[in-house]
Amino acid sequence: MNQEDGPEATATRRATGEAESSRANRGWWDRNADEYQDEHGAFLGDDRFVWGPEGLDEAEAALLGPAAGLRGRDVLEIGAGAAQCSRWLAAQGARPVALDLSHRQLRHALRSASGANGAGGEPGAGGTAGGASGSPGTGPAAGGTSGAGPGPAGPVALVQADAGALPFADGSFDLACSAYGAIPFVADPVRVMREVRRVLRAGGRWVFSVTHPLRWAFPDEPGPEGLSVAASYFDRTPYVEEDERGNAVYVEHHRTAGDRVRDVVAAGFRLVDLVEPEWPDWNTQEWGGWSPLRGRLIPGTAIFVCTRD
Ligand SMILES: C[S@@+](CC[C@H](N)C(=O)[O-])C[C@H]1O[C@@H](n2cnc3c(N)ncnc32)[C@H](O)[C@@H]1O
Repeated sequence: MNQEDGPEATATRRATGEAESSRANRGWWDRNADEYQDEHGAFLGDDRFVWGPEGLDEAEAALLGPAAGLRGRDVLEIGAGAAQCSRWLAAQGARPVALDLSHRQLRHALRSASGANGAGGEPGAGGTAGGASGSPGTGPAAGGTSGAGPGPAGPVALVQADAGALPFADGSFDLACSAYGAIPFVADPVRVMREVRRVLRAGGRWVFSVTHPLRWAFPDEPGPEGLSVAASYFDRTPYVEEDERGNAVYVEHHRTAGDRVRDVVAAGFRLVDLVEPEWPDWNTQEWGGWSPLRGRLIPGTAIFVCTRD
């Protein structure tokens, strides 16, 4: 829920489908990637894996399994943005592929990676994949660090594609993850999750975070005005920002907690945990409607931990 599209964008709740959501969000993230990274880049860090505005770190949470077990694993990050999480995974010795719809977001991944673990080159376009390094269409190939342990991080392959049509062969990855990437923005999350299941190997794990469904009943405000229920939690009508011609320029889709559980089950996963991070004392930072005030009272993020049997 954002206001960065300027005065001509009008916020509303209305129906919208897969194609319009994808088009709107690709444009929005391309236009707003610079501002987003300026605003949140310091909190996200260059190579931290943070699950959401509460600041829960994968290094501490180990939702993908113990960090030592990540070495040599093929990991797909969906909606990776500037690929901070993937760089943390690479530093653990994993072979991450960072996929995102937005070219501009992936450009930030290149800039952030231009130091020790720089991938170099343009993000691979959807379908051909892996321009930065390797060819995920024949198995994820971040290239260069196969089986390497923590130490100098390997490169991160960057792929520009829609999460609803993953340009990878079946059974390409051991793990898949997403920190607020793609899932909150798509009209058909089951389609995305079926794709994730297809590209995972048996025994693989799929962990994703989204805005906690409860938040949709409250105004998206960090202060006390964000503590009073203002809408029905059960209203699944998408949040849409429109331009002056009524075209969607930004979309988020609401699912209840029960919907999310049914989605992962419908896609063939087993749900093994639902993590609701509490707001820690050290975190004094606001992120849009996520704030210490609200975070101490109501959950802001839901993290679904699923396995592919
Ligand atoms: C809130 S950012 C999350 C990225 C990163 N984890 C972070 O915290 O900055 C959401 C990302 O999802 C991407 N995204 C949105 N819809 C997508 C889709 N259908 N397929 C792939 N990526 C998508 C956006 O381009 C954006 O980079």
